[in-house]
Amino acid sequence: MEITVENEELSLKKRRQFSLSENMVESQQQLLPTNLAVFSGRRTSPLCAFASSILFIYVCGIGFYLWSSNFACRLRNFGDPAPVSLSSLAFDIEQRDRYIIIKNYIKPAIHADEKNTMTFATAAIFTDLSHMPEICGKWQGPMSVSVYAPGSDFKTALRKIFNLRLANSCIHQNVSWHLYFDTEFSPSWHKIRSAEEEAELTTTTSGSYDVWIKGTFKSHGHLPFPANIGRNVAIQESKTRYVLVSDLHYYPSINIIPRFLELLKFQGPTGNRVYVLPVFKMAGYGKPPETKSELVQMTAEGNIVLPSGTLDCTQCNIFPHARKWLEVRSPDDTLSVYYVSREKEEFESWQPYYIATKDIPFFDEDQIKEGKFDRKLQLLELCLQHYEFHILDNAFLVQVQEVSETIKDVNILKSFIQHNNQAREKKVEDLLCRYGSDTGCSM
Ligand SMILES: *[C@@H]1O[C@H](CO)[C@@H](O)[C@H](O)[C@H]1NC(C)=O
Repeated sequence: MEITVENEELSLKKRRQFSLSENMVESQQQLLPTNLAVFSGRRTSPLCAFASSILFIYVCGIGFYLWSSNFACRLRNFGDPAPVSLSSLAFDIEQRDRYIIIKNYIKPAIHADEKNTMTFATAAIFTDLSHMPEICGKWQGPMSVSVYAPGSDFKTALRKIFNLRLANSCIHQNVSWHLYFDTEFSPSWHKIRSAEEEAELTTTTSGSYDVWIKGTFKSHGHLPFPANIGRNVAIQESKTRYVLVSDLHYYPSINIIPRFLELLKFQGPTGNRVYVLPVFKMAGYGKPPETKSELVQMTAEGNIVLPSGTLDCTQCNIFPHARKWLEVRSPDDTLSVYYVSREKEEFESWQPYYIATKDIPFFDEDQIKEGKFDRKLQLLELCLQHYEFHILDNAFLVQVQEVSETIKDVNILKSFIQHNNQAREKKVEDLLCRYGSDTGCSM
């Protein structure tokens, strides 16, 4: 049976209020009789008075403990009467703004050799995960993936992840998973259990939300995708020094990791710089190219088109001197820098994907994916910090056809865009204060 999200939210609130007040009544019942006994007891001797004051302090101590743990819990916004004992869990839970993130909820089976590899870091919703086997197969290294999964999407996402792990050894060995959701659409009313239990592989207790037959909880609730929180978490939780920050609709060419690490050996000290992977686009469906030779050939055949844009921006994948890039040919097994972009005007429309060190400026967590240009503020900050954009030759990303859900309600979409624009304007003002107005970066 489908109930609307609003109803669900209402009933949740009711449950929350109910369980809080229930808890208060309970603790009063526990404390009052004992206190009364202490106060009403006739004082027979100083020793007895001393003993009762000790008892009184003891009872107060317990009372304070109960109160403070409940308070800490309310601070965490779990609305859960039982405090979440974080220490007994094998994973980290963090709250950021109105989202809760479970970091490293499902860990990879093997520990990567951190010095000799790098991490593919991304944020996704569960419908994007069907790209994972292909991408992992091409990447052949550690991946750090944040999945936004509110309400019933949580369980669906976990099941999908476990299926992927069962079916694909690369994913099983190499992917660490972080899950996140809105505080008010927390999947578990009580403690968050292990991922296996939450996916209900080992228990049969029912979850708090109905699973939608069609579409996602996210789409039924018109919830925006806070991709930047997921990106930041995926980057922070990477175990390697270098990360490729990308999206799941972009398939990397093969052998990027060993060739990139080889390239670094010849690249003096790396100051503020990122290594950009040019983006090309599949004209239709089919197998994406894995090497530049294949890419060039497929372009000639019309199966690959020159970079252009995405659903959210028409020009953001256009990189400087793109046509020429196809003409420059070096052996497929080498990797070099094709062009260094220091031109600040280029970032007016360009939103490149790149390899960077883990300590790059954060993505702005106020920006939401559906509000468009959600990565722009981060790129602006890179520009303000004089980052160089080294465009790689022989390594690239191929944009495949997106099948992800889009928000069809025009008014909701408009409100998301407005949200991003307003939040961005405010941030740009902050940045102008910090860096001055004469920066040459397009704001
Ligand atoms: C997992 O990553 C390692 C490198 O960390 C790679 O050598 C291995 O091939 C990957 N596993 C699979 C099954 O692809």
